[in-house]
Amino acid sequence: MSISSADIDSITSAALSAIEAAADLEALKEVRIAHVGDRSPIARANQSLGSMEVSERAQFGKVIGQAKSSINSAFESRQRVLEAERDARVLVEERVDVSIAAKRSLPGGLHPLTILTNEICDLFLGLGYRVAEGPELEAEWLNFDALNIPADHPARTMQDTFFIEPLDSHLVLRTHTSPVQMRTMLEQEPPIYVICPGRTYRADELDATHTPVFSQVEGLVIDKGITMADLKGTLDYFARAMFGPDVKTRLRPSFFPFTEPSAEVDFYFNGRWVEWGGCGMVNPKVLRAAGIDPDEYSGFAFGMGLERTLMVRHGITDMHDIVEGDIRFTQNFGSGLR
Ligand code: DAH
Repeated sequence: MSISSADIDSITSAALSAIEAAADLEALKEVRIAHVGDRSPIARANQSLGSMEVSERAQFGKVIGQAKSSINSAFESRQRVLEAERDARVLVEERVDVSIAAKRSLPGGLHPLTILTNEICDLFLGLGYRVAEGPELEAEWLNFDALNIPADHPARTMQDTFFIEPLDSHLVLRTHTSPVQMRTMLEQEPPIYVICPGRTYRADELDATHTPVFSQVEGLVIDKGITMADLKGTLDYFARAMFGPDVKTRLRPSFFPFTEPSAEVDFYFNGRWVEWGGCGMVNPKVLRAAGIDPDEYSGFAFGMGLERTLMVRHGITDMHDIVEGDIRFTQNFGSGLR
């Protein structure tokens, strides 16, 4: 094979223009195989030196050496340019925007009513009370008769109470948590200190201040020498824990069949008196119905609505917010996972 300087020139210029034309590193890799590597024309020309006359070899060796080095340096400088371009592009294309809000899945949480219930139970557990619970589907007798609520009491009429069919089952959806008082007295000897949170039902329409499914918390204490002063002191302690140290409470004379005397308990909060619930000294008739001797034991009871407590404490004006469970509302109370 004979090779001329002109051949070397054309090999070189083909290599140089291919190198220049390589648009990216991928293309440059192909160019390297075709024009720079071991099987490229210039490498072959180099190999052909071996079969040349010594005089020719010296002359061509120089020409080919120069061609090789100009191809190599063109290749290397093109490679540097393309690498720099790639690095600049990657910096833009693979840029991480640390200011974009992360997608997070919500961890879930307790409903504000549950948080409040836990808070109240903790408070009374700290006073030595026990948490007692009863069924929401309750015997009519425990919900009414045992609490001295006579058959002709307005609370028993169809408008207020959800009676369960068949009517001779004598089951109701409990209208208050007070039946848990009687259940506790029937199963436990005094002294009794219980707090009874739970869901209660009345045939009301859902509106800004009412809901047919609501929650109450009942307190019951039966011991020797319990007086109304104990009741007032307990309510004050409870109210301060709920509404802050400056809250005041007052008892207003009232009537409940299962307490005697009975009172409404109000608290003074944010410049106004708010009705909180009912309370009183457990009616001796109720004690007797539970087999407790009223000459030996006395007791107090109270019951309040949890929705009302939550609404006043947190300035909630619409019951729907509590009932609907929209997380935009409930999240304001934190997860409540303590
Ligand atoms: N159970 C009553 C109601 O739902 C509230 C109540 C009043 C509870 C007086 C009591 C009490 O324990 O002593 O309206």
